[in-house]
Amino acid sequence: MTAKKIDGRAMAKEVREEVKVSVAKRIAAGKPKPGLATVLVGSDPASEVYVGMKKRMCENLGMNSFAHTLEADASQEEVEALVSKLNADPAVNGILVQLPLPDHLDEEKILQAVDITKDIDGFHPINIGRLAQKGRESLFVPCTPNGCLVMLDKSGVDLEGANAVVLGRSNIVGMPMALLLVKRNATVTICHSRTKNLKEICAEADILIAAVGREEIVKKDWVKPGAVVIDVGTHRIDDETKEKGYYLTGDVAYEEVSEVAGAVSPSPGGVGPMTIAMLMRNTLRAAEIQDPM
Ligand code: GUN
Repeated sequence: MTAKKIDGRAMAKEVREEVKVSVAKRIAAGKPKPGLATVLVGSDPASEVYVGMKKRMCENLGMNSFAHTLEADASQEEVEALVSKLNADPAVNGILVQLPLPDHLDEEKILQAVDITKDIDGFHPINIGRLAQKGRESLFVPCTPNGCLVMLDKSGVDLEGANAVVLGRSNIVGMPMALLLVKRNATVTICHSRTKNLKEICAEADILIAAVGREEIVKKDWVKPGAVVIDVGTHRIDDETKEKGYYLTGDVAYEEVSEVAGAVSPSPGGVGPMTIAMLMRNTLRAAEIQDPM
């Protein structure tokens, strides 16, 4: 079998087009441009790249972006004061505090300081708590797992009663992904570094979400024939034979897994572009919640 490619790049483009149209409608109706504020503490190169991509995407879709950078040794009070200022700023609809934060900062307190109507990352404890509870809806759902869900939906995957395995239990991806899949009536197993018989558990999955942060850990014999595999990982591997001196890969050995799976999302070109598209969608949603038409 050769798996169908789940083309996150094309799917993200569709989401961005929808956002762009809705933003233009709001502006035509006299509403201000939706605005996203990013808060970056320090100068982690990967975080700088992500924040830059978010800024450019806002501009492409007709939204404002306000990039704030604090020194790596910024105090807890300084970061919280910036968040409070952004909470009070009507031009800012969404606030994104780029993670990870330097170790000396209390991440939970900072995320809790974000106004929940501006919590476009969906990381506020109230939003995450609602995601974990039956019959409750969070205002915003974290962008990466929500992007994975949109990719499954756009691929026509039936989640009801499906056996879903999530590899990884991070606050940003694995845990909210598992909660989202439960909300959609999948039967969910979360695997992590202490899981025994990892390969055997993965090989039972109808839907396998790889978000463990280990390059190409998911091999062909980890995948049930016909299963749907979503690769959340991104790894930069040094390789002097490549023009750039490196190549990018994911948590899934794409080529060999494609021989058995029913559908696989590649990395790069899968979850990455979809995550940014979901962030744009959440920022538009924040503007709609705060200032309905
Ligand atoms: N770091 C890695 N992914 C994310 C994300 O989705 N949001 C934020 N704020 N930081 C991240």
